Amino acid sequence: MDPLLRPIHPRDSLKLAERRPRTLARASATVNAGVRSGGPGRHHRTVEPERDSWQNDAMPAHHSAPVPDFLYGTAWKEDRTQALTELALRMGFRGIDTANQRRHYFEGGVGHGLANAYRAGVVTRADLFLQTKFTYQAGQDHRLPYDPAADLGTQLAQSLASSLEHLGTDHVDSYVLHGPASGHGWTDDDTAVWVAMVKERDAGRTRLLGVSNVSLRHLEQMAAAHAEVPAFVQNRCFARLGWDREVRSFCRDRGIVYQGFSLLTANPGVLHHPLVARLAARGNATPAQVVFRFAQAVGMLPLTGTSSAEHMNQDLASRHLALSTDELRAIESLAG
Ligand SMILES: NC(=O)c1ccc[n+]([C@@H]2O[C@H](COP(=O)([O-])OP(=O)(O)OC[C@H]3O[C@@H](n4cnc5c(N)ncnc54)[C@H](OP(=O)(O)O)[C@@H]3O)[C@@H](O)[C@H]2O)c1
Repeated sequence: MDPLLRPIHPRDSLKLAERRPRTLARASATVNAGVRSGGPGRHHRTVEPERDSWQNDAMPAHHSAPVPDFLYGTAWKEDRTQALTELALRMGFRGIDTANQRRHYFEGGVGHGLANAYRAGVVTRADLFLQTKFTYQAGQDHRLPYDPAADLGTQLAQSLASSLEHLGTDHVDSYVLHGPASGHGWTDDDTAVWVAMVKERDAGRTRLLGVSNVSLRHLEQMAAAHAEVPAFVQNRCFARLGWDREVRSFCRDRGIVYQGFSLLTANPGVLHHPLVARLAARGNATPAQVVFRFAQAVGMLPLTGTSSAEHMNQDLASRHLALSTDELRAIESLAG
């Protein structure tokens, strides 16, 4: 099933380095107000890297950018992908999310956007957090980045090799399983793919690993089946499901960074809610900025796929919006 279409159950510097995070600094909910727009800047989350049993001493030590506090998503941009990726970098985004799934993403276009930004001196590869995904054949169209007759481990290796070529790099910062094979639970196919992902990570072709479009059940079964949990979970985040409360709680307990997408499009009721309107007006901000600031303050790493330069500016500036603990709690309990 196409992970992008499947209904899903529905975090400053995150210095993950080459280690899985154990603790995340709690995002501060008190900074400056007056944030309708703001200039580029890098704000990151802080994680104290800790050595623990899962760590592999053979893991290569890339010079690596920390995980930024916002990711720019490149889905559904087709022939605007190159220009919008370059624009996002010029506006200040340092995290790029894509997938080797031509049906919804033009990963080669992302690579051309990156190359333009490098040539123009906007950023270097070392400044960036690049994330891409492996998508099962069921989520693809005919433009497959692998041989469908090959075993899943081979498909994964071919897909990642193709991503690295598209993105003009020898490693990504995060490699994500786009969605498990079944909506009902973690399967043997998912296990084969995860084992192949770990192998790619150990070979240095990605720093970190993640899973997307997962339920709590997937995560519990995955954790029971494997010695290692992912560094990231990327899910569609519905307010009506407590903003994916159960999965976020699982992630928080294990130092997994929760990446939230569709924060605006999945929650139109929140964007029109009087509380959100009042908080936006008070901060000279927009409801969308309140939602993104809320997401960061409760520990999420939000994605935005905006095609607008003004919205890129606003989305990045939302980190400066002040929201009290009580206000965060109130937003967290909005049904959407
Ligand atoms: N893992 C998965 O299966 C999966 C699935 C979906 C998405 N994703 C990732 O998440 C990224 C984001 O996708 P998304 O689903 O969150 O949708 P999106 O593509 O970010 O769409 C967000 C909508 O909100 C609007 N918007 C953004 N900032 C705004 C602002 N400040 N004020 C008002 N409107 C604003 C955008 O309109 P404008 O363009 O006019 O600003 C757009 O219509 C994707 O590009 C992709 O990388 C992953």
